[in-house]
Order: sequence, then structure tokens, then C-alpha cells
Amino acid sequence: VITVLCANPALDITYRVDRVTRGAVHPVGTVHRRAGGKGANVARVLRQLGEPVRLVAPLGGAGGEEYAADFGPGLVTVPIAAPPRSSVCVLDEHATVFNEPGPELSPDEWEAVVAAVLDVRTDVLVLSGSLPGGVPVDAYARFVTAGVATVIDAKGAVLAAALAAGPDLVAPNLAEAQEILGTDDPYACAAELRARGARGAVVSSGPDGLIAATAAGTWRARPPRVLAGNPTGAGDALTAALARGLAGGAAWPDILRDAVATSAAAVGCETAGEIDPVLHAELVDQVVLEESDVADHHR
Ligand SMILES: Nc1ncnc2c1ncn2[C@@H]1O[C@H](COP(=O)(O)OP(=O)(O)OP(=O)(O)O)[C@@H](O)[C@H]1O
Ligand SMILES: [Mg+2]
Repeated sequence: VITVLCANPALDITYRVDRVTRGAVHPVGTVHRRAGGKGANVARVLRQLGEPVRLVAPLGGAGGEEYAADFGPGLVTVPIAAPPRSSVCVLDEHATVFNEPGPELSPDEWEAVVAAVLDVRTDVLVLSGSLPGGVPVDAYARFVTAGVATVIDAKGAVLAAALAAGPDLVAPNLAEAQEILGTDDPYACAAELRARGARGAVVSSGPDGLIAATAAGTWRARPPRVLAGNPTGAGDALTAALARGLAGGAAWPDILRDAVATSAAAVGCETAGEIDPVLHAELVDQVVLEESDVADHHR
């Protein structure tokens, strides 16, 4: 089974309006509410792929109940006092997003989250997204040192603090890697993430695909074409596919082809946390994979 931790879950609320005007009152046409947070998107993709998955999330109040009802099977709720935050997306021709910070967890509540994650034997643990308040910035490191195979999709200080513990795989996008590493070359970023402790690193760059640096080699994998659609959640689909590949013990070239096809197939779906299976099947054999000699990139 794959366990996904969504430490700071959010109810995603989408308001569709004709046009956003600053300072004006807007009648909202349709309102859509669903269980969100990056971990929830990862778990939904895994569930769609038929992979046994549990999503662990700290949830309280009526908002927590709404979240659980919307997510459905596979959710392990860790009861806490506070309801989840909301993330409000106002959609006209653009998507304008307002992310609340979320509740602060007490030390006991966080210990209950850790226990819920580690109590069940897991093939791969996915640590995805931000940490709630009240939790130490190096909280992800604790799961890595517990000996579970971990895939981490995080950014900033949370990602930086997790590296030294030696996670199996980190998968930030290029901007997130650049923010903590100070270089904008994806090969250099992937190599540096390994130098800082990760056993493997995947650095994604939207339609340009990804660079993967692992103990077995370094690869670039690209989708065969740029897809039009909704790229939000493509990174979460990528994380899901990487976790599934690691859990299945596939070879890196196969994992990467599948991961690029899966993430590109997410762009074809309007909602984050879903992939288009027909598009996935069509793309998987067309992914452009090149193994690279790391020395090529350090001239
Ligand atoms: N327009 C696109 N066309 C084809 N493939 C895409 C496109 N956008 C993204 N992808 C695929 O999805 C992967 C992840 O995308 P990206 O680097 O944008 O992730 P991200 O910024 O972490 O996204 P998010 O965190 O919003 O889910 C890319 O490596 C690529 O394989
Ligand atoms: Mg991402």
C-alpha cells in the first residue's frame, strides 16, 4: 500500500464568475467545493490508477466531516480540534487563488498524525505539500529516518530540512528547486539535491518534462508535445506516478516514461487529481527519454 500524508489539507472552493474587477461586488454563478491539498490530489490519482492507497490527514469540525465525505474511501482521519483551511480559487479567464494558512496543531495532535502514518506497514510514503503551524520545519525528516521509502514533494525550508535525512526521492519543480539551491539549471539542481542528501531527485519543468538524477543514472524525459489544458495538479500526478513506480520496483527509464505520461495526462483533465487514461496510454510510448552523461553538464 502507498500512504500519502496531507499534513495541511484544504477544502478547495472554486467560484466561477464572468470577470473579476478589483473592488467590485461579484455575484458567484456556480460554487464547487471539494477535498483538496496536494496530498489529496496525489492520492486521488493513485486511487484512479487502481493502486491501494491511504490518505492520512488531520481534520476537525464540520469542515473535516465535509472533507471526509467528499474524499471518500481511503481517507484515514486524524481527529483534531480545528476545521481544515479553505483555498479559494476565483475563476474567470484566469485562476486567482487565495490560500489560507490552516490551523495550528498541538504537539499531541501532531504525534497522533505521526502515529497514524507509521502504524501501518507501507511500501512507499508520499509527503506532499506544506506543513501546518505548530509543527517543526524538519518534520518530514522524522518519517525518512523511520526507515520508510519516502517521496517528498515540498518546497522552501521544509524541503531543505528533509534532504539531509536521505529521502529516496524528492520531486520539486524547477522554480522550487531554484529557490533553495540558487541555480536555474535543472541538471545542476537535480545533482545538488542528491549532493544534499536525497538518494534520487526529479526536477520538473512543466511542458519541458523533467530531469531525474539517481544512483543508476541521469535522464531527461519530455512529453512528445505541449498539451493545452489545466496544468494545476500535473506535479501531483507526477508524484503519484513516481511513488507507484518505486513501490512496484520498476527500472528508472520505465518509471520516468510512465511518470511523464501520467503528469501530461493530468493536464488534459479540468480537475486536479485526475488523469485522462486514454491520453496516458497514447503518450507513454511517445515520451522522449535521453540518458545523459552528467559530465556533459559541467563543462
Ligand atoms: N502543458 C504541458 N504539456 C505536457 N506535459 C506537461 C505540461 N505541463 C506539465 N506537464 C507534465 O507535468 C509534469 C509536472 O509539471 P510541473 O513542472 O508544472 O509541476 P508543478 O509545477 O509541480 O505542478 P503542481 O504543483 O501545480 O501540480 C512535467 O514534468 C510534465 O511531464
Ligand atoms: Mg508541484
